[in-house]
Amino acid sequence: MKNLKIISNEFLSKHTYFKLGGPADMFTLVRSAAELEGAVRWAERKRFSWFILGGGSNILVGDLGFRGLVIKNEARGLSHRGTVVTAESGVLLNQLVSYTIGQGLGGLEVFISVPGTVGGAVYNNSHFRPEKDEFIGNLVESAEVLIAKELTRERVDRTWFEFGYDYSRLQQERAVVLTVDFRLKKADSESLKKLSFQAMRQRNESQPIGEACSGCVFKNPKGRAAGRLIDEAGFKGARVGGAYVSEKHANFIINDGSASSRDVLELINRIIRRVEKVHQVRLEPEIFLVGEFD
Ligand code: EPU
Repeated sequence: MKNLKIISNEFLSKHTYFKLGGPADMFTLVRSAAELEGAVRWAERKRFSWFILGGGSNILVGDLGFRGLVIKNEARGLSHRGTVVTAESGVLLNQLVSYTIGQGLGGLEVFISVPGTVGGAVYNNSHFRPEKDEFIGNLVESAEVLIAKELTRERVDRTWFEFGYDYSRLQQERAVVLTVDFRLKKADSESLKKLSFQAMRQRNESQPIGEACSGCVFKNPKGRAAGRLIDEAGFKGARVGGAYVSEKHANFIINDGSASSRDVLELINRIIRRVEKVHQVRLEPEIFLVGEFD
């Protein structure tokens, strides 16, 4: 493997949807699954903490940044054989979906405007409409993962991931997805395009797309909508510093350009406390906290 190009003190705010996050001590960009594997192996050998940054959605990075190596995953190889599509884990979901629609392969079209990379989507079992069982994990046939502890590369099947709502085993185990095989179905490209447009329209109508935010902040509690619970608790427009709750959808927190990660975290905590008091439901964040907060 060629030498890693390490950048010191790279501000992670440049790489996240929230536009928040302090500096990473070390930062590197990888452009293939082989480079990704090489970077993780290097960090493990050196005993550095590492974090794989995908599209930068669904995370809140602390104002003090990250101590260790952040690996920005831009491994974007994509191919198919029959109805099985193989994607490197840095492929953007949008890129994957456009590709499958173009090839007349159905299953992923509703994920057209879901942010993030294939690796991130598998890590969190990304969904579109969870109530309709539209989870990315349902379409995973197998994957190549690097188990960090033993530094072994393994081919695993869908059951290995133990997929659940916003959950996969990757959240418990130090392992890295290198490539994923999705099993899709032959379909007509034009019909898939229509379905993807419908999904995109639904999101655009109800969500603050294009703002500096990170998708839904909280998971939907069983049988309830977090957005409605937060809305009913009177939080639309509520603000801490430069962070405020969207007027369009209450499960979104927006950075007005002047927020700190601390502001967002404080707003999250206020929402949790108030919703518990009003609705007797304890909300759980869907976004992941990364790095150091002051
Ligand atoms: N609602 C309100 N007030 C609000 C927002 C929503 O009353 O401010 C009500 C709506 O009227 C509706 C219900 O809450 O009756 C559900 O709202 P919506 O249809 O917008 O869906 P959601 O449950 O809030 C889920 C996912 C979204 C996904 C959409 C696709 C979660 C936490 N959210 O939203 O996922 O895009 O379905 O329809 O699972 C994400 O995970 O980042 C995300 C955005």
